[in-house]
Amino acid sequence: MEEPLISSLRRAIASSPDDIPLRLLLGQLLVKSGSPAEAVSLAAGVLQDAPDNLDARQLMSEALAPVAPTAPASPDPTATIPAPAPAAAPPEFDWSAAEIDVHELAQPMFTDAQPSVVPGSGFDIERSVITLADVGGMTSIKKRLNAAFLAPLQNPELRKLYSKSLRGGLLMYGPPGCGKTFIARAIAGELGARFLSVGLSDILDPMLGNSEQNVHEAFELARREAPCVIFFDEIDALGQRRSQTRNSALRGTVNQLLTELDGVADQNEGVFVLAATNQPWDVDPALRRPGRFDRTVLVLPPDEEARESIFRYHLQHRPVEGIELKALARSSAGLSGADIAYVCEVAAERALMDSAETGELRLITMHDVTEALREVTPSTTSWLDSARNVVLFGDDDGTYTELKTYLKKAKRL
Ligand SMILES: Nc1ncnc2c1ncn2[C@@H]1O[C@H](COP(=O)(O)OP(=O)(O)OP(=O)(O)O)[C@@H](O)[C@H]1O
Ligand SMILES: [Mg+2]
Repeated sequence: MEEPLISSLRRAIASSPDDIPLRLLLGQLLVKSGSPAEAVSLAAGVLQDAPDNLDARQLMSEALAPVAPTAPASPDPTATIPAPAPAAAPPEFDWSAAEIDVHELAQPMFTDAQPSVVPGSGFDIERSVITLADVGGMTSIKKRLNAAFLAPLQNPELRKLYSKSLRGGLLMYGPPGCGKTFIARAIAGELGARFLSVGLSDILDPMLGNSEQNVHEAFELARREAPCVIFFDEIDALGQRRSQTRNSALRGTVNQLLTELDGVADQNEGVFVLAATNQPWDVDPALRRPGRFDRTVLVLPPDEEARESIFRYHLQHRPVEGIELKALARSSAGLSGADIAYVCEVAAERALMDSAETGELRLITMHDVTEALREVTPSTTSWLDSARNVVLFGDDDGTYTELKTYLKKAKRL
């Protein structure tokens, strides 16, 4: 029998379905009375109507929270004290299976940011400690990542509701040094997933068949460690257009990658596939088909806010004085994250050389950084030039619309 209050609320909602507080109240009661699944769809319904409703989000996370184990029955004082458990575990107890079970249920007590090499494989897997909040600026990228990738993944009920499927990965592209790898780590952090970065050198092996085997092992590892983000850096090199590759080992690698990606759709719950490239036009089109890397996000040179946080990041542990971050951010348009790292390096060197010459220690000043800024030229220029050629002369199937808009705005087209 349903609680009378729940039944009354249902009737009230049936006659005024737009009443959000009523729906939320029913949701809370449902969670308490042990029907979280219904509460999830209620919260999802409210979120669809009012995406920013904080109470609905709260309800969603309560409803999705794992069910607390039922409290042990209160001890019966008359019961006899049970004999102490034998110290040694019975020999047939399967510890490794138990560990896997526990691993799935419990979060590890300690998280380490240090990459750990998994025995038997050459891959580094780490727990990401950064989230999108650590990525300065880049609001539009974050919004797109949320809509295209994170929101549906973080919330399985919403995913059903919006009939978005889990299939397919996300390809980030853009000029070098602008934060693709950084964002990939942040996505893993956002999803509470492990981060497995796979580069060309982890995969390619001159021995016939080994490269394919390495691709397979990377996916196997990600499946074992799920939830896990598997990140293919420089995917253009790994997944080169097969028509361009004479090298048959590389062709096999592309094929293996395709097989694994298709596998992700059916069996790899909790494996999220990301990739990055500076040369999206060299990536095999087969990798871009639906269900594979079917969503692309353009990662452009950092905006002013992003540049400010990049300067802060690279100067924070150095001996500085009187640095105006906002002024630096304003005067560094067009520089990539990597360029800014270099500017800070050069500024530090100037101060160090001076100190060595005069024998008197001096801190890094604004003058050092502005002088260093004059010395660097944006490393993104040549990328933008080649991108311009692709947009102008390549086939336009709509893939580079975002890039086109940017180039037009920057008066490069
Ligand atoms: N929005 C940002 N906020 C803070 N730091 C950033 C941001 N964007 C980039 N960085 C910094 O810039 C550096 C370069 O970024 P990253 O290595 O992710 O670039 P990339 O696009 O992967 O480059 P490549 O194409 O060379 O692989 C990172 O170490 C990161 O600290
Ligand atoms: Mg990178």
